[in-house]
Amino acid sequence: MASINKQECFSVALKLVKEAGNLVRDAIKKKKRIETKSSAVDLVTESDKAVEKLLISGLSSAFPDHKFIGEESVAAGGKCVLTDEPTWIIDPIDGTMNFVHSFPYTCISVGLWVKKEAEVGIVYNAVLEQMFTALKGQGAFLNNEKISVSGETELSQALIFSEIGSSLDPEKVDTVLTNITTLIPKVHGIRAMGSCTLNMCYVAMGGVDVCFEFGIHAWDMAAGYLVVTEAGGVVIDTEGGPFDLMRRRVLCASTQELAEKMAKLLKQYQPERDGVTK
Ligand code: IPD
Ligand code: CA
Repeated sequence: MASINKQECFSVALKLVKEAGNLVRDAIKKKKRIETKSSAVDLVTESDKAVEKLLISGLSSAFPDHKFIGEESVAAGGKCVLTDEPTWIIDPIDGTMNFVHSFPYTCISVGLWVKKEAEVGIVYNAVLEQMFTALKGQGAFLNNEKISVSGETELSQALIFSEIGSSLDPEKVDTVLTNITTLIPKVHGIRAMGSCTLNMCYVAMGGVDVCFEFGIHAWDMAAGYLVVTEAGGVVIDTEGGPFDLMRRRVLCASTQELAEKMAKLLKQYQPERDGVTK
């Protein structure tokens, strides 16, 4: 197996993400060419494709042995398989619906996983100039300043990010609405902003105390996972128990106590796993 120099991987990826950020910052102001994918509200633009191409071509020329899982490559028929090999997991634009509407809650997300563990995480909201970074064992940073979770343990004091998601499956929609109804009287506040990755980073920076979502994919969580855990936060499965990157659901919280309280309250939904071949 290829061995990695984590610092080198981080530096190469950071440079490419900044370059891709220029593209996003410029494109968000302009008219987009929009196509739909799994549903009428699951969108892709020419910028999603251009960013993914820029990142994969730059990373693969620097690291020819590495593997890739990219949202738009998978949409075009590529594989979504995580092995022990160094694998870059890329969401070129997380929050594409926001990007389409020029709503600046959107980011580029690049995670490097090796032996099924997160080693590098880079999340860049180029529009608001927020660069979240994490290397395993070295803490999490926002624009080079160390960040940490809020430490909140009480549900009644917690600000929560839920999400509506891009699946119109009635069972999924019912799960979303049921959970919001359950949580409203129990928490401080609920928000739905439209980017799973940024939601995770906002838990990491202590701006919210919990985020959870069903139906997302490995690329929506791969980098955010490391940013949250390196900021002292907790990432688990939505019903409690260990987080599984391919299971398409996530619950992040500032503390284990809060995560467990949330998991007990949530109505569950299980989409088909990532990587299942038909
Ligand atoms: C979306 C975001 C959002 C989630 C949607 C995803 P995308 O990712 O992560 O939080 O609710 O389901 O599709 O499509 O903009 O990369
Ligand atoms: Ca995306």
